[in-house]
Amino acid sequence: MIYARIAGTGSYLPGEPVSNDDLVARGIETSDEWIVGRTGIRARHLAPQGMVTSDLARVASQHALEAAGCKPQDIDLIVVATSTPDYIFPSTATLLQSKLGITNGCAAFDLQAVCSGFVYALTVAEKFIRSGSHKRALVVGAEVFSRILDWSDRGTCVLFGDGAGAVVLEASDLPGILGSALHADGSHHPILCVPGSVAAGQVVGDPFLRMDGQAVFKFAVRVLGEVAHEVLADAGVGVQDVDWLIPHQANIRILQATAKRLGVPDDKVIATVAAHGNTSAASVPLALDLGIRDGRIQRGQKLLLEGVGGGFTWGAALIHY
Ligand code: ACO
Repeated sequence: MIYARIAGTGSYLPGEPVSNDDLVARGIETSDEWIVGRTGIRARHLAPQGMVTSDLARVASQHALEAAGCKPQDIDLIVVATSTPDYIFPSTATLLQSKLGITNGCAAFDLQAVCSGFVYALTVAEKFIRSGSHKRALVVGAEVFSRILDWSDRGTCVLFGDGAGAVVLEASDLPGILGSALHADGSHHPILCVPGSVAAGQVVGDPFLRMDGQAVFKFAVRVLGEVAHEVLADAGVGVQDVDWLIPHQANIRILQATAKRLGVPDDKVIATVAAHGNTSAASVPLALDLGIRDGRIQRGQKLLLEGVGGGFTWGAALIHY
């Protein structure tokens, strides 16, 4: 039997942290008290002008390759989860392939599932590996959400940040990903979207992120609970056997409500939202890498990764790390 296991992780955050007070100083009508009280967010990183998603992805990927002890040419599949690609085309994955100097002709494509993107990408890459067609995948979540924010809308612009996380997923005789589930319900698309496109050289519609925060909150807590139970039940693993819950980092209150519903204590949740804000598809691999590098996550432990995002999309993956 071929399994897929995480061989190494990496991440990257651009520039210095931008605090809530820094946003106030930039003229946004908000306060540290409001943002921390409603979301738990204290800071975020914002990519400087000219830095694009594939730049963030490149650094995160290099760290993941080093951690996995492999060379760029050893990669035979690249999947980049992003909603903020460098271009309409080519894909950010092919641009990343070029920036990493990978010349072996490996498959490379983007995957769009917004904040669930990394869990989707990991699950897709796992299927390639388990089929035997590919041996070593680079799976990345990378975003520059700061470019799709309406900085005059204080209800959304304070919530997001830029960043990237990456894992090298490789074929193994030992189980790595123990189970996963992906879901979507497109009927909820209006509550979180960037309802714009480009045609005839013009932006058609609205190029900024729009959100009904309270509707998103309720939906996210419900489906994160449901999909966690689904994956654990399918794998025959009890919630008490999960060492670390690593949910999408949208809002500390969503993380806490999800953990409470599942019966996972707060000290088993990897939370980065305070320092990173919501980095969409990058949030789960960023949190995973942080937990591994600071020594909390150890080999042999069970990790439950979860994502929820625009679409709506949601999913979870149970990992034997
Ligand atoms: N600073 C100060 N005041 C603000 C700000 C701000 N940044 N933003 C909104 N307000 C004000 C509003 O104008 C409103 O004022 P009013 O009562 O005078 O009209 C008041 O605060 C309450 O506004 P609401 O939008 O009702 O605030 P709410 O309590 O719903 O909190 C929030 C908003 C934090 C977005 C919340 O709905 C939430 O956490 N939703 C979850 C959504 C989320 O996390 N989205 C991330 C992306 S989705 C994803 O990743 C899955």
